[in-house]
Amino acid sequence: MLNVVVLVSGGGTNLQAVIDAVESGRVTNARIRGVISNNKGAYALERAQKHGIDSLCISPKEFGTRDEFNRRFLEAIDAMKPDLIVLAGFLVVIPPAMIEKYRNRIINIHPSLIPSFCGTGYYGLKVHEAALARGVKVVGATVHFVDEGTDTGPILLQKAVEVQAGDTPQALQRRVMEQAEWKILPKAIDLIANGKVAVEDGLAVIKEDK
Ligand code: GAR
Repeated sequence: MLNVVVLVSGGGTNLQAVIDAVESGRVTNARIRGVISNNKGAYALERAQKHGIDSLCISPKEFGTRDEFNRRFLEAIDAMKPDLIVLAGFLVVIPPAMIEKYRNRIINIHPSLIPSFCGTGYYGLKVHEAALARGVKVVGATVHFVDEGTDTGPILLQKAVEVQAGDTPQALQRRVMEQAEWKILPKAIDLIANGKVAVEDGLAVIKEDK
């Protein structure tokens, strides 16, 4: 049974998609051990509580230095003994020591087709604003493993979504979530939980059923 810890900062619709997929059996061999937010007002925390999932808040603002936060954050993660850490709209930089300790065991959902519209400054609505400003006709979402860079780790799953005439950033964000994010994030967890993913030479490989 894969022990999953989900990190969140906001509304938690991706967390909800994972909870629903685990509860309905679309994700197998996995349980959500806990949810950690950096923001005590995050609606994601209520979603966790409604489903009886342990949750806690730990914010850089509570600590005098970033090093102190990083140390306490890693302790909180370690205490949950995760096999997989899922960043589901988590907007805090992951401490390097955590990346090192949990290499190839941290995944992130990003609301674009990496390598487009990713990296520093591209998060949330800003991604969709940039895509509309550039006039691209296809957008999407990516699940990738987390390495020391920003959105640079091995790509596990991607799903494309069409831009429609008259899209606003909000409308596009919603369509990318519905058609891509809420599908590929649970799927990625299911693949990992069932031993179907390997990272080889810096690339994520999905092993086919024999
Ligand atoms: C999602 O669109 C997620 O892809 C994005 O934040 C949103 C969180 O929504 N993440 C990033 O931009 C990370 N770079 P949610 O809290 O409703 O899941």
